[in-house]
Amino acid sequence: MILVTGATGGLGHQTIDSLLTTIPAAEIAALVRDTSKATGLVERGVNVRQGDYFDYSSLVQAFRGIDKVLLVSAVAFTDRVRQHRNVIDAAKEAGVKHLFYTGIQRSTNFVLQEVTESDLATEAYLKASGLFYTILRNGYYFEGLGYLIGSEVPDTAIRFPAGEGRIAFIKRTELAIVTAALLTSEGHDNQEYTLTGSEAYSFHDIARELSALAGRPIAYKSSELAPYIAQKVAAGFPEGVANFLAQWGAAAKHGMLAGTHDTVERLLGRRPTSLREYLKTTYFPGT
Ligand SMILES: NC(=O)c1ccc[n+]([C@@H]2O[C@H](COP(=O)([O-])OP(=O)(O)OC[C@H]3O[C@@H](n4cnc5c(N)ncnc54)[C@H](OP(=O)(O)O)[C@@H]3O)[C@@H](O)[C@H]2O)c1
Repeated sequence: MILVTGATGGLGHQTIDSLLTTIPAAEIAALVRDTSKATGLVERGVNVRQGDYFDYSSLVQAFRGIDKVLLVSAVAFTDRVRQHRNVIDAAKEAGVKHLFYTGIQRSTNFVLQEVTESDLATEAYLKASGLFYTILRNGYYFEGLGYLIGSEVPDTAIRFPAGEGRIAFIKRTELAIVTAALLTSEGHDNQEYTLTGSEAYSFHDIARELSALAGRPIAYKSSELAPYIAQKVAAGFPEGVANFLAQWGAAAKHGMLAGTHDTVERLLGRRPTSLREYLKTTYFPGT
C-alpha cells in the first residue's frame, strides 16, 4: 500500500487523484492532520489516516502496513528538519520499505533561506536511514507565479528581483501525475530526479508573452530586493512573506531553478504545459 502525506494540500491531493486513475483505492492511504478535511477521500475509498509530522507516535501508527510513503515536504518556517526526521524514523519503525521525498530543485549552490538547508539535511538523513529512498527535486510551480508577479494582468510592467534569471516552471498537477507514475513503477530505489518543465523562462519571456496575450506592451523591470519587498508590504503582504518571495527572485537570479530535465516530459509522454499556455488559461481565461 502507498501512503501519501500532505493529502489535504495541493501536491498530495493531486497525486492521489492521479494514483486513483491507475491503482485501486484500496491500495492508497492518505495522511492528514485533520480528518474532517478528508471526507472526499474517504468517499472515494482512500484509507485516510490521522497524523501530524510533529507527533511521532501518530506517524508510527499511521504507517503500519504501508510499503511506500510519499513525504510531501513540510511548509517553510516550521522546523522542517524535525518534522521530516520524525516521518523518516516513524516509517522505519513501522516497517515501511521505501520513502519518496519532495524537495525543491537545486540547479546551483544557491542557499534559499528556510528551504535549501532543510532539504539537504533531510536528504542526508534519508540516505543514512537504511530505507530505500527516491528524492524528487521539484521545480517551481507555475501555480506560484502569481505570488511573485501578482495574479492580475499588470498595466504596464512586472517587477521582480530576478535579473536575467530563468525558471523551469512546472504545473503542480503535472508534477503530481509524474509523482504517481514514479510511485507505481519499479526502478527508483535510491534514485534522485529533478522534475521540471522542459524549458526555462526569464521574466522578460513572461513580459513578452503577457504583452502578446494582452495586445499591449508589458515590460519586465528587474528590481533590487529592498524595493520589491517594500512594494509587496505596501500591497498588504506581511514583511516575512514579502522577504521570502524576494528570496525566490534571488534564487532565480542565481540559477537555482533554471535547469531543465526530461523526466517529466518522458513520464507524461508529452511536453509539459508551456509558459504561453499557462499564462493564457490563468491570466486570460475564456479568450
Ligand atoms: N515547488 C514549489 O513551487 C513549491 C511551492 C510551495 C511549496 N512547496 C513545497 O512543496 C510542498 C507541497 O506543496 P503544496 O503546494 O502541496 O503545499 P500545500 O498545499 O500547502 O500542502 C501542504 C500539506 O502539508 C500538510 N502539512 C503541513 N504541516 C503538516 C504537519 N505538521 N503534519 C502533517 N501534515 C502537514 C498540510 O496539511 P493541512 O491541510 O492540515 O495544513 C497540507 O496537506 C510544500 O509543503 C512545500 O514544502 C513547493
